[in-house]
Amino acid sequence: MKFVLASNNKHKIAEIKSILSQNGCDIEISSLADIGYTEEIVEDGTTFEENALIKARAVATLGYIGIADDSGLCVEALNGEPGIYSARYAGEPCDHTKNNAKILKALEGIPMDRRGAAFVSVIACAHPNGSCFTVRGECHGVMLEALQGEGGFGYDPLFQPDGYACTFAELTFDEKNKISHRAKALTAFAESFPAFLKKHTF
Ligand code: IMP
Repeated sequence: MKFVLASNNKHKIAEIKSILSQNGCDIEISSLADIGYTEEIVEDGTTFEENALIKARAVATLGYIGIADDSGLCVEALNGEPGIYSARYAGEPCDHTKNNAKILKALEGIPMDRRGAAFVSVIACAHPNGSCFTVRGECHGVMLEALQGEGGFGYDPLFQPDGYACTFAELTFDEKNKISHRAKALTAFAESFPAFLKKHTF
């Protein structure tokens, strides 16, 4: 049976393959483009889990094992916003500069001890037989009062992970990938995936 990541992001496919392989699970993963899927998947869930499952199931209904991720930033003082709306926080299309400007404004005047936040990553897997599971990774930290650093993407220049004196944007690619929400979710996924496959496929 073919494995399909509900995305066209080659980097995400490589990242998932690599971490699965480190956990003894070597599989080929196709993209939506690889299977000729061109429809837009409407992510109208209310949680990361729901949205990741919507994407994974869209692929599973075609007879593939669907894998999908959904991630974002949840800020405590903003009642968990932007959350599932992280990419389009300042409107569509996604504009990281505008998103960062909007979140800085929303947090204006809020002291450092109330600027806690967490990056969240959820990975969902759906089998054509209707079975599915999700895993979640979180990285906690604080939102700074000004942009700091040039690396990474998205909200990285504003997010200082707990235990560090710099932002995600000041870490190297490898350093970030050791502690990130995505790395944690991927590790949890690699731990659950082989047993799920064994139970439902072989
Ligand atoms: P996606 O679900 O991976 O497409 O992420 C949705 C949005 O969440 C992105 O457009 C970013 O705004 C934000 N985001 C997710 N992961 C990260 C990260 O590692 N750094 C910065 N922003 C992120």
